[in-house]
Amino acid sequence: MKSDKRTKLRFDSRAVYYPPDEGTNSIGAPLIMSSSFQYDADIYQQVVDGERKSVNIYGRCGNPTEYQFEEQMMMIEGADACLATASGMAAISVALLGILKSGDHVVCDWTTYSSTHEMLDHRYTDYNIETTFVDTADPEAVRAAIRPNTRIIYFETIANPTMKVAEIPPLVEMAHERDIIVICDNTFASPYVFRPLEWGVDLVVESATKFIGGHSDAIGGAICMKSKLLPADFMEKIRWSTMVKLGSPLAPFNAWLLLRGIQTLGVRLARQCQTAATLAAHFEGHPKVKRVWYPGLESHPQHKIAKKQMPDFGGMLTFEVESADAALTVLDNLELCCFAASLGGVRTTTQIPASMAFLDVPEEQRRQMNIADGMIRVSAGLEDARDLIADFDEALSLI
Ligand SMILES: Cc1ncc(COP(=O)(O)O)c(C=O)c1O
Repeated sequence: MKSDKRTKLRFDSRAVYYPPDEGTNSIGAPLIMSSSFQYDADIYQQVVDGERKSVNIYGRCGNPTEYQFEEQMMMIEGADACLATASGMAAISVALLGILKSGDHVVCDWTTYSSTHEMLDHRYTDYNIETTFVDTADPEAVRAAIRPNTRIIYFETIANPTMKVAEIPPLVEMAHERDIIVICDNTFASPYVFRPLEWGVDLVVESATKFIGGHSDAIGGAICMKSKLLPADFMEKIRWSTMVKLGSPLAPFNAWLLLRGIQTLGVRLARQCQTAATLAAHFEGHPKVKRVWYPGLESHPQHKIAKKQMPDFGGMLTFEVESADAALTVLDNLELCCFAASLGGVRTTTQIPASMAFLDVPEEQRRQMNIADGMIRVSAGLEDARDLIADFDEALSLI
């Protein structure tokens, strides 16, 4: 099928379809594990002359299975270019380091994945790159934080763990008027629930480890681009200037596992969104639960924005019990759900954001991020929602 016809397919069809492999006609993606590739004289000369870019040279520069993953990611994100990386954090680092220089400034949401926050709050400052942390759900706060040297506005489309949803059009407009690049981490939403490039965002970073892979068996990441500000060859530039030099390509076997994950992303997420909504409604009426954060609930602070922007509300939710001890008792007594780091897999996973993902963030900052000690974050899996409710109710009865 021609590429323009592929891009017109609906989401699930784009996710499932691969062109048959040229060498073998296999309908599944071939897995190429080689770390080195044989040159012939023509290829050698093109590489020496700098004319050849995404070519099979050496595994750290790229790999055919990784390129196939990049192509599928472009299809499901609606991107013009994609760069696969070893992890979600590698995608975030390569995107930021590929753009920023000493003296630049970033405006970033208060509530991002802890390692993203840590890098911007500490490590990048060592290289004279400053970040102002704001609530991106408040466009006026973003406007006030912008400086003449601001290069990037960065936020998560559904932000961990409060499931905050910032309204994208005003942020994009404000950024593009000033040639500022907008980057979104879309990990919690996944491209099934939301495709930020369709809303004018310049770069999307994904931890493919999560919903895209979907089976908790592979670490990987991707940067996807569709931008009026960045040059068409931006992704190739950062592939060579940053990703290859940092040594962070996606490993071929992980690319292959993630490719399999993409094919079932739609059906998994449709069910996970449904289960998350069922759990959120159940927790909202539960006597042991103080508060629930799920963008699909009318009580969520950005419910109206989420409804306007997203066709569904995602597979992630958070609820709060009275204390950190109570949260630990609940998680320790779950049997069907796992008490585990990470999210987006076929099994329901739970964690305590304050003492797990945000452990390195000082308490005062955690408060500013609205992260309470008794919060429990849930990634809805594919189990029957009735069994999940029974599991949670039994554990909640112990506090
Ligand atoms: C929102 C978000 N972004 C990025 C990452 C980093 O992804 P990875 O673990 O694949 O590096 C995570 C990890 O949990 C995450 O939750």
